[in-house]
This record gives sequence, C-alpha cells and structure tokens, in this order.
Amino acid sequence: MPFSFPSTSHLFSLFSAFVFWFSHSSSSDQELASSRRPWADDEEHAFIAPGPGDVRSPCPALNALANHGYINRSGKEISASSLYSALTSIYHLSTPFARLLVEGGIATCGHKFERWLSLDALAAHNVIEHDASLVHDNAPLGAKFAPTNVNWSLVDDLIIAYPDGLGITHLAEARVKRESMLQDERRPELDLLHGEISHGEAALAWLLMKDARDVVSTETVRQWFGQETFPDSYLIPDEEVTLGKARKISLKIGDTMTKLKEAVNEL
Ligand SMILES: *[C@@H]1O[C@H](CO)[C@@H](O)[C@H](O)[C@H]1NC(C)=O
Ligand SMILES: *[C@@H]1O[C@H](CO)[C@@H](O)[C@H](O)[C@H]1NC(C)=O
Repeated sequence: MPFSFPSTSHLFSLFSAFVFWFSHSSSSDQELASSRRPWADDEEHAFIAPGPGDVRSPCPALNALANHGYINRSGKEISASSLYSALTSIYHLSTPFARLLVEGGIATCGHKFERWLSLDALAAHNVIEHDASLVHDNAPLGAKFAPTNVNWSLVDDLIIAYPDGLGITHLAEARVKRESMLQDERRPELDLLHGEISHGEAALAWLLMKDARDVVSTETVRQWFGQETFPDSYLIPDEEVTLGKARKISLKIGDTMTKLKEAVNEL
C-alpha cells in the first residue's frame, strides 16, 4: 500500500497518550495541592482538640500546630528545633523570621538552657501576651497569666462585623475596637511594645490566612481563631513569609489604627 490511513490502533495510542498526559498533569496538580495541605490525608496530623492535661497558648498559629501534631500535642516542653521546623514547614516562615519568633519565645517564656517552651507559658501576662486580643478575654486584673481559651462571643462579633471577611483595614478597625474596650474595663492602654506585638500578630494572621480576595474569610475566622485548626482554604504559602513582608503589613495596620484613633479623637 503506497498510502495508509492511520489505523484505529494508532488513533487509540494517540488518544491514550493524551489521556495519560491529561490525567498525569491533573494528578500532579493534586499532588501539589496535597503537599500544601499535608494534614488533609495524614491521620497522624489530623485535628484533635486538646485533651485534659494538654496545654495551649494564646496564639492560634501555635495551637493549630499542636492540635495537628506538628509539635507535641501535649503542648509541653516543645523543643526549639521542633518549633522551628513546624513554623518553616507548615507556615513557610523564612529562616530568620522563624528563628526570631522561636528565640524570642524561649528567651522570654521558655527554658533557656534546655531550649524548650511550654505553650501555656506564653500566656504570661504582658510578657508577649497582651490585653485586647481579638478573640481572648483580657487577663483578670492582677493575674500573672491570661486565659488561653477562646471567647466565642468575640469570634462571633468578628464574623458579624465583617461578613465579607477581614482585610488589612478591617483588622486595624477590629484592633482599635478591642483596644477601646480596655477603657470601658478601666484597664491601662497597651504599651508601645505590646501595641507593636498585637498588630504584628494581626499582620501575620492576614499574610497566612488571606484568600484570593486578600481577606480573611469568616469561615477562616471561625476555623483558625475559633477552633484553632487549619482552615479548609488554607494552603501552605507558596512564597516564603519573610520578616520584611510581615513588617510591611504590620506597619500598614499600625498606621491605619493611628488614623482611626485620630479620627475618633477629633469627634
Ligand atoms: C510529647 O509529650 C509527652 C508529654 O510531655 C511525652 O510523654 C511524649 O513522649 C512526647 N512525644 C513526642 C513524640 O515527643
Ligand atoms: C466574652 O467576651 C464578651 C465580650 O467582651 C464578654 O462580655 C464575656 O463576658 C466574655 N465571656 C467570658 C466567658 O468571659
């Protein structure tokens, strides 16, 4: 035969090659998604709420790591290296950023010689912890430690006030509101350091938890701040979360807060 049409079997191989290419590329997308949500199909890292005797901190980021077993689920005597590797792998914090947080936590609230930290020690009042948290009650007056349990009515307040989620300006507004509640309770204002820490935390929450619309959705508020689990929409960030990025957003939130406070004072 001088000329031959492609046979059915040729077409079939072409077709299966296409199917293979198609399914292969889509399965590697899935692999990518699952490598950015490694707890989703790994029983060892499933969410388990803390049991009796387990301790937690005032920080949702660390509590979620413990609730998913990326640091010891007991929350006790967590080594510097385990904190460090959880912060870099699950939140993709840069090395210097993770180091700063771990060293800062251990130096102020941990065991400096053996280099570990129990999560509840981070609730030491006015060390790192501060009043006017978005979802925790203030430390009872005179108490050395602040509560580490979430106040769900504060979580609900956030969800009701920001049904479309929280962008940078909303976070600033929510912080101003919480700080203004200090006056109502006749508590001192946050000092400079704790003011900085508190909007630094808001900046980190936004950087880690914002969705494609650049807001922290209400479902994320509920799951992250409330249940202290990785939100359904959370993927380990593709890009490293650096100190520089966190600082930039923190400054933005701080500036917005200053403007909002000035506006209130001018009334
Ligand atoms: C976790 O902490 C508990 C209590 O402190 C300890 O008994 C256990 O060995 C730790 N588990 C791991 C995997 O380090
Ligand atoms: C939770 O926060 C609200 C609002 O500040 C407050 O009225 C309430 O007493 C708090 N709940 C608990 C259990 O402390």
